[in-house]
Amino acid sequence: MRALTVMPGRAGSARLDETPDPAADEGPVLVRTLAVGICGTDVEIVSGRYGWAPPGQDRLIIGHESVGRVEDAPANCGLSTGDLVVGIVRRPDPVPCRYCAAGEWDMCANGRYSERGIKELNGYASDRFRIEPAFALRIDPSLGLLGVLLEPASVVAKAWDHVERIGSRSGAWAPRTVLVTGAGPIGLLAALIGQQRGLEVHVMDRVTSGPKPQLVRDLGGTYHAGHLPDDIDFAPDVIIECTGAPSVVLDALNRNTPSGIVCLAGISSGQHRIHLDVGVLNKSMVLENDAVFGSVNANRRHYEIAAEVLAKADKDWLSRLISRRVPLTHWAEAFDRHPDDVKVVLDFTL
Ligand code: BGC
Repeated sequence: MRALTVMPGRAGSARLDETPDPAADEGPVLVRTLAVGICGTDVEIVSGRYGWAPPGQDRLIIGHESVGRVEDAPANCGLSTGDLVVGIVRRPDPVPCRYCAAGEWDMCANGRYSERGIKELNGYASDRFRIEPAFALRIDPSLGLLGVLLEPASVVAKAWDHVERIGSRSGAWAPRTVLVTGAGPIGLLAALIGQQRGLEVHVMDRVTSGPKPQLVRDLGGTYHAGHLPDDIDFAPDVIIECTGAPSVVLDALNRNTPSGIVCLAGISSGQHRIHLDVGVLNKSMVLENDAVFGSVNANRRHYEIAAEVLAKADKDWLSRLISRRVPLTHWAEAFDRHPDDVKVVLDFTL
């Protein structure tokens, strides 16, 4: 079968390989891949800055945002031939730590978790993959290829879940306004959840044209192009920072309102530094009960929440998030950034 592989740590090593069929020990459910989404993490892996091959191997099959159709499944496992499924990314660490033992691998405390297509486990960017039933999620068949948005949606479903848990530290918490920084797939899906929660939605992104402004407006939100003016006329109760860009992170911290919550959901490249006066930040955070926290990955419960979010969303709006579908044979084009890109997917059916 065809598989997109890289030698982690080596830029320029990505190639389309012919590999043996997935090994039986990867799980009893056999899935035919329909599409795999490409995100910033994949770009980092392909450029040699992130990723780990399975132990004892040189190459890693990439791809962690999946959607596929079950070709074979054991009886009574909860999945049947023909089901539309998405694979969960992370697997618990072998110890396991107390979080992984409780099915909360997204909170793994010892860093020994593994991740399909990222860390020590082959991913989903192959014609077929195998998976354990507990790590595959059956989704609404009407989503079709849009199911590829489930993994990024699970990441923001977790972010929102934790925002709400932190917010409930006060019985009087009643958020009205959310500010999302970054209008990539993560930011737009965070905005979608904000809209579904009935909040006033503001999204800021550096781009001034292309599909993003209208995608935000079609959610009923306000798009702020380029940057936020100093004198904004709204007070965000929640800020979800999705760029990982240090200057935007700092701006998000500075925009926090008393008792506000800032969720950092973007992974920085580590290539830019910025000066931060920790004393000033500490003073305002303490005196205003501010909360700032980081959020990564998702557990099965978050995938289930995300599946509901996608099932409820307008399908036309969701389909506009997929700005390019690239056939696997042309995989390299999926890694070129085009100005109007939102989510680029490798389409295994083309
Ligand atoms: C994935 C997460 C993963 C993280 C770090 C992100 O792109 O969506 O599932 O935990 O990368 O590897």
